[in-house]
Order: sequence, then C-alpha cells, then structure tokens
Amino acid sequence: MAKVKTKWICQNCGYETPKYIGKCPDCGEWGTLTEEFDIKDQKQTKNTTVDSTPICLINEIEISESIRILTGFEELDRVLGGGLVQGSLILLAGDPGIGKSTLVLQTAGNICSNGKKLIYVCAEESGSQVKLRAKRLNVNSDNLYVYAQTNLESVINQVDVIKPDVLVIDSIQSVYTSNITSSSGSVSQIRECTNILMDIAKNKNITVIIIGHVTKDGNIAGPKVLEHMVDTVIYFEGDKYKTQRLLRSIKNRFGSTNEIGVFNMAENGLEEVLNPSELFMKERTEEITPGSVIIAANEGTRALLVEVQALVGTTFYPAPRRVSTGVEYNRLLQIIAVLEKRIGLNLSKYDVYVNVIGGIEIDEPAADLGIALAIATCYRDVCVDADCVIIGEISLSGEIRNVSNIEKRIYEAQKLGFKKAIIPKQNKKFPENLDIKIIQVPRLMDAISACISRKK
Ligand SMILES: Nc1ncnc2c1ncn2[C@@H]1O[C@H](COP(=O)(O)OP(=O)(O)O)[C@@H](O)[C@H]1O
Ligand SMILES: [Mg+2]
Ligand SMILES: [Zn+2]
Repeated sequence: MAKVKTKWICQNCGYETPKYIGKCPDCGEWGTLTEEFDIKDQKQTKNTTVDSTPICLINEIEISESIRILTGFEELDRVLGGGLVQGSLILLAGDPGIGKSTLVLQTAGNICSNGKKLIYVCAEESGSQVKLRAKRLNVNSDNLYVYAQTNLESVINQVDVIKPDVLVIDSIQSVYTSNITSSSGSVSQIRECTNILMDIAKNKNITVIIIGHVTKDGNIAGPKVLEHMVDTVIYFEGDKYKTQRLLRSIKNRFGSTNEIGVFNMAENGLEEVLNPSELFMKERTEEITPGSVIIAANEGTRALLVEVQALVGTTFYPAPRRVSTGVEYNRLLQIIAVLEKRIGLNLSKYDVYVNVIGGIEIDEPAADLGIALAIATCYRDVCVDADCVIIGEISLSGEIRNVSNIEKRIYEAQKLGFKKAIIPKQNKKFPENLDIKIIQVPRLMDAISACISRKK
C-alpha cells in the first residue's frame, strides 16, 4: 500500500507546503497551517482520458445567449448583472448572522413561485428550523425542496432524481465529500466540494449558489480560497446592530462589479431598498454640523447620495492621525495635501477623521471635492448649506476636474429635493432648466465660497 501523503495548508489563504511552518509566507498569518491528506492519490491520476471537444475557429462558434433566472429581487438581479445565469456557480459570502440564509430562502421562494424547481441543502440546520424561518418569511412553494444533508454524494443523488433548476448549498463549510478524508470546513474539503459543484453546474446546467461564512477563525477556511474557482462572488455586508444590508459583487463573469444592492432587514425578512439615497438621507440629523457634506456618488448604473463627515481636532501625537472609513486612505492624504498647499489650511497640527455614512465605500475621484469641503468646513467651523450637493474631482493643482455621469448625479439630487449642486466648471454638458440651481466652479477655492451662504 502506498504511503499516505500529507501536506500543510494555510486555512486562511490556501497556501500549501510539505512541511510545517508557523507563519504563512503568503498571507502572513500565524498558526493557520494544518495538516491535510493529499488528495492526488488514486482518484485524480485515473482521470487523464483525452477529452473529445473539437477545436474550432472563432468565426464558427455560435453565440448562445445565456439564460437568466430572475430572483424576484431587483437589487439582487442588478448585482448579478441581470439575474442568475443558468449553469453558473455563485458564491454568496458574509459574516455569520448577517442574513445570508434569509436572503437565499426568500430568493428561493421567489424563484420557485415562478415555476422553477429548487433544492435548498441546509447543512447547518434541521429541516424544521428552515421551515420555521420560511414561515416567518412567508416563503411557501410546491417546487421548493429542503434537504438537511451534509454529504455531497447524497446531494448529487437527489439532484439526479429531482432535476432542479437551482441548487443551494448552505453552507460550503459544513458539507463534505467522501472522496477525501479531511474534515469538513478544511481547505481541501472546501476546494474539492466546490470542484464537484462546479461540475454539476456546467454538466447538468444547474445554477448552483453556495453560501460561505467569512471568518477570522483559523480553523475554518474562508471564502477567499474559493474566489478564483467560481463564476461570481457576492458579499453580503452590514452592521449587525443595524438593519441596513449591502450586496456587493467583487467578481462576476457575467456582469459588472460596480453595482451594489441595498436591503433592509425587517421582522419578516429582507426588504429591497430601491431608492437608497432616501435611506441614507433619513439618517441625517436636522441640525447640520460643520464637516458634514452630501455628495452624489456613482455606483454602477445609478447615482447615490451619501453623507461624508469629517472631524478635525488638535492632535496629541507627534505625527497627526489620519483615519478614513469608506474612503481610500491615500486619496485622503492627497486631498489633505491639496488643502494645505492650495487653500493654506494648516492641518499638520490636527488629526483628521473622515467617515462615509451608511457603510458605503466610495472609490471614485468624484467624491474628492465633497471630502475636501467636509474637512475645510470642519476646520473653519462653518456649515455647508443643507440643501447643497457637492460633485467634483480635485487635481493636485487645486483645480476641479470634470466627472462622469453628471446628469444622473444631478437628477438624483433634484429628486431628493436638493436646491443647489456644486459641479466642476469643466463639465460642459449638464441638464439645465431644472429646479436645482447649478453652480460651476473652476477651483477648490471657489467651491468653498459657493457652498457656504451663511456664516456661523
Ligand atoms: N425571529 C426572528 N425575528 C426577526 N429577525 C430574526 C429572527 N431570527 C433571525 N432574525 C434575523 O436574521 C438574522 C440571521 O440571519 P441568517 O439568514 O440566519 O444569517 P446567516 O445565514 O448569514 O448566518 C439575525 O441576525 C436576525 O437579524
Ligand atoms: Mg445561515
Ligand atoms: Zn496563508
């Protein structure tokens, strides 16, 4: 009998090595390597038969439109790029308790009431627990099968019997295949199970949704090790103590990754927030404080109004602190440098904190001007007018550069009742004759005087 080979695998990033080491050279985590059996003994070496797929010229290939299954949630469909692609493998990742099972169960209900068949494999919960949740969420359909099973081979048997359109695995960390001996939740198991599920998706043309917990616990492999294997990766995020949830796709073979979806967690399940700007604005307090600015950000196909807050305070450190939440750190440093050099703010003696409200991450330069005005108004203890929206990119010379999709941003601001929009002078084309007053500014200096009409 051949000697059983083992290898050491980092449970955080999937790095492999034949010997034990304390620190993973790939991701730098300590103590995350565990010993697992090498799966490459009998099974894989046999599988080397030559595939008979013909080679062909690109001109000979006919395009088959991918068929999309609508999820019943516009927000989810948009993040997916127009619904679930038939025969694709989707990873839905998120912190435990954030609402992944809830989202998937509600989606399952919607899909099934459109006449599709779905198997929901609950590997973490019993059938009656799922039934209880379904009752609370008002999910009820004749085409929805629930299977409390952790063994993947048993799942495949049922897939062959029921022939569903969609298969849901909740979660990938709690299923196992008998092909390999590692315990469920280990990197080897998660990878092998995902391989098998990919096979089901492609060969049987079934859409497979796998749920993965994001976890810092070194014992359980996180979704990171799977991201390159699947077609689409969606993260479900939010503050557990608040009701707002964000869907964000970070990889999508069938659509853009710019879109976000917004949900609200309520007593009877997740509700879509079709107009997120309204939600973000609702959190705004009546009394506007210095350092609070509303910007119009672009997220995929739509514009979103979000609040940016800055706090500037005397520092007690030799090097002042710069802290950013929702804004890229280096971008913040650059904006601070421009404020110092072009406007003459002496920020070197002040700590600067910048925060985007609502858990949104802004990674486009059009937010620059808003961030700069938040810092500048907090520093000078004045308020930006409450009915004013700020749009613009800042160059190193302090000029305001033009931004994309200016129309959408202006329309969104008007829709929510804003009366004034500060936009770049360089943007030549924008909607006119609106209820909202448009003020074009060439330089950062002009923007500051344009957005403050009332001295404190
Ligand atoms: N009986 C209930 N009433 C209201 N909300 C509930 C109830 N049970 C669970 N929830 C909400 O659902 C969340 C858990 O969602 P779940 O889909 O199980 O998360 P995940 O699958 O991501 O671990 C809880 O954090 C809570 O907000
Ligand atoms: Mg769950
Ligand atoms: Zn690692």
